[in-house]
Amino acid sequence: MSLITLRQLLDHAAENNYAVPAFNISNMEQGLAIVQAAAACNSPVILQASKGARVYAGDIMLHHIVIALSEMYPKVPICLHQDHGNDTGTCYSAMNHGFTSVMMDGSLEADAKTPASYEYNVNITQNVTEVAHSIGVSVEGELGMIGSLETGTSSEEDGVGAQGVFTREELLTDPDLAVDFVQKTKVDALAIACGTSHGAHKFSRKPDGEILAIDVIEKINKKLPNTHLVMHGSSSVPQYLQDLINANGGVITQTYGVPIEEIEKGIKYGVRKVNIDTDCRMAMSGQFRYIANSCPEELDPRKFIIAAMKELTTLCKERYERFGSAGNASKISIISLDDMAQQYKNGVL
Ligand code: G3H
Ligand code: 13P
Ligand code: ZN
Repeated sequence: MSLITLRQLLDHAAENNYAVPAFNISNMEQGLAIVQAAAACNSPVILQASKGARVYAGDIMLHHIVIALSEMYPKVPICLHQDHGNDTGTCYSAMNHGFTSVMMDGSLEADAKTPASYEYNVNITQNVTEVAHSIGVSVEGELGMIGSLETGTSSEEDGVGAQGVFTREELLTDPDLAVDFVQKTKVDALAIACGTSHGAHKFSRKPDGEILAIDVIEKINKKLPNTHLVMHGSSSVPQYLQDLINANGGVITQTYGVPIEEIEKGIKYGVRKVNIDTDCRMAMSGQFRYIANSCPEELDPRKFIIAAMKELTTLCKERYERFGSAGNASKISIISLDDMAQQYKNGVL
């Protein structure tokens, strides 16, 4: 079995100066395309499922998809991670279904909309960390609010995001508070807010330091050099996929994502997990549209899905190469959950 914890994977990434892409999945085809690409690049990978993905596929199905992928590609270390866990129940049920890592997103209350107090965030994250570490599972926490510095809002393109309009200070992660948060919660990785947001509409222009605060990542890294940082909302929203969608009946107004070179700067400042969902959605749905448009007589869903998987595989390969995770899968020998639990217990981690 090639399932790995987030902590072990990101420790390896930190020791070797790379980051691991965390791709969202909700079905077999996404899993196959992402892990095939990882195998081709000799890269480890994080497969993450949102609460919505778990409802869509069902926990039993998702779990078996990932087990099957790990049997098909035993050389690829795969971390199965809960994305944006909104409460303890979501995190604990993920652990019961074979997830090796959970995100407790206590920056928002359980409704995933209302900004939470700092005390609430610390308490709920502490509770999850205590339980998770006792069985070797890793925990990602979040401080700050993922949202746009241009508009002061979180994206409504998916179900995760604070409701309201916020100041720059309210959105961005405070480096001093980050030190206190990590010390109190003992999280294995910290999601930070630096001006990225979920969905395709992140920036109205190619982002500069005004609207994408890489300097905040640098400041947090200076104060927390041993903490693995997580960049959410890291899709690059490539122009070629916007064009593919628009040329085939889709409507996506001109938009800008996070340029890969900005993510590479983040990696220099301790970013070890890079969350990508929207790009994968665009790759697949772009090809669905292209096949529907160019072969109107096509009835076989596999023709759509094969093209979509190919586009997704190409995209994933580029991310493994650019983030530096390519070439590292074979250098990792997986530590079991029991041994990870023992390491937490002994204070090694
Ligand atoms: O964090 C947000 C991801 O893009 C998941 O989106 O809740 O629609 O699966 P979803
Ligand atoms: P994107 O919408 O930029 O792909 O971000 C996904 C994400 O952060 C999932 O947690
Ligand atoms: Zn996210």
